[in-house]
Amino acid sequence: MYYEPGVTPHGLPYDPFKSCVIPRPIGWISTIDAAGNHNLAPYSQFQNVTFDPPIVMFSANQDSQGRRKDSARNAEQTGQFVWNMATYALREAVNITGEELPPEIDEFDRAGLTKAPSRLVRPMRVAESPIQFECVYLNTLRFPGVAPMGAADVVFGRVVAVHIADDALDERGMIDVLRLKPLARMGYFDYTYVDNRFQMIIPGGNRAVLAGLEGSPEKANAATRRA
Ligand SMILES: Cc1cc2nc3c(=O)[nH]c(=O)nc-3n(C[C@H](O)[C@H](O)[C@H](O)COP(=O)(O)O)c2cc1C
Repeated sequence: MYYEPGVTPHGLPYDPFKSCVIPRPIGWISTIDAAGNHNLAPYSQFQNVTFDPPIVMFSANQDSQGRRKDSARNAEQTGQFVWNMATYALREAVNITGEELPPEIDEFDRAGLTKAPSRLVRPMRVAESPIQFECVYLNTLRFPGVAPMGAADVVFGRVVAVHIADDALDERGMIDVLRLKPLARMGYFDYTYVDNRFQMIIPGGNRAVLAGLEGSPEKANAATRRA
């Protein structure tokens, strides 16, 4: 089948678009508004953008009334947000925090989650989550879209602090993903989680390229100096 989004109908019973780019990691984003209200919401239109310095982004559509979502507004107003890893064990809490609620409702409390203070920013971390990034707001790219929800605020932030629970690391000092079971969004109402892993190395033996693949600035710099 073939269709042109917004131009020709896909003709399927369910829109396929969000089921094509999968699985999507979940940015479970905590923020504080200017009045000090705590906010927590999941964003599957989320990614890391680069690693030196580390930068992440989440993309917030408008809410069902066509208003900016709290997470985007709070990040812009206060200049800070926190990313929390969503895991299979936390799936019900993640889902609860996806409800569209007024800014004064604290989704940590609503989902029965514990707040852990951050070190460098004011938004709280989800204590039950094994990994969190403290982020400083960089900028927003705003894409116009079809009302009420289509416009997107893509919020970028620099990761200034990383918290990894000791028991989230395996005996080699690597993140134990098979134990953490990071949660990911598929399309429709479907989810998945990481339950397998395999390795591949880019051919050519270029150390700098492999350091980039690993995401290690130190090794990339060393390889570039050697070359
Ligand atoms: C797993 C999951 C992923 C979601 N991903 C997004 C997303 O990428 N972008 C978005 O605008 N809304 C997304 N939502 C919906 C928001 O979480 C929801 O609108 C929430 O109320 C936003 O809260 P906020 O206004 O406090 O930021 C997602 C919901 C769930 C459950």
